[in-house]
Amino acid sequence: MTLQRTFIMVKPDGVKRGLIGEIIKRFDQKGFTLLNAELMTVDRSKAEYHYMEHQNKPFFGELVDFITSAPVFAMVWEGENIIEVSRLMIGKTSPLEALPGTIRGDFAFTKEENVIHGSDSLLSAEREIENFFGLLKKRISKDDFPFEDR
Ligand code: PPS
Repeated sequence: MTLQRTFIMVKPDGVKRGLIGEIIKRFDQKGFTLLNAELMTVDRSKAEYHYMEHQNKPFFGELVDFITSAPVFAMVWEGENIIEVSRLMIGKTSPLEALPGTIRGDFAFTKEENVIHGSDSLLSAEREIENFFGLLKKRISKDDFPFEDR
């Protein structure tokens, strides 16, 4: 059993297009557990830290402009192998490669504005969760949820 946490963010285009509910539904139905969520505007320093691995890419400025342009819906999800599974659910960055059935395959049409972000490794997940939510003081588990069939 490999229980992991990941950082998932509905980007400004996804929020504007009313896709928050659809995205929560997909992760929920997969059996993952939502641990934290907040609609927030992202300041430049948080955005630059979040995308630090791309700081030397030509699109870095545009990426930071975009993510700070309007509210995002930031979330922490937990589940079995969630880092890898959520990346499969999200789909490839390029709209030409994102398969139907994935979130980007179904809803995104450019690689600049592609609806959703998900952490790509355990290390990124830890850094991204801390950047957006700080350290979760209490370890929330499925036992904290009063639903018998979860
Ligand atoms: S790379 O170069 O392969 O590492 O980059 P990639 O994984 O394709 O994309 C990394 C994130 O940058 C976004 N992106 C862009 N933003 C603005 N302009 C351009 N041209 C551009 N190309 C890629 C892309 O949506 C990825 O965002 P996240 O949130 O990490 O999925």
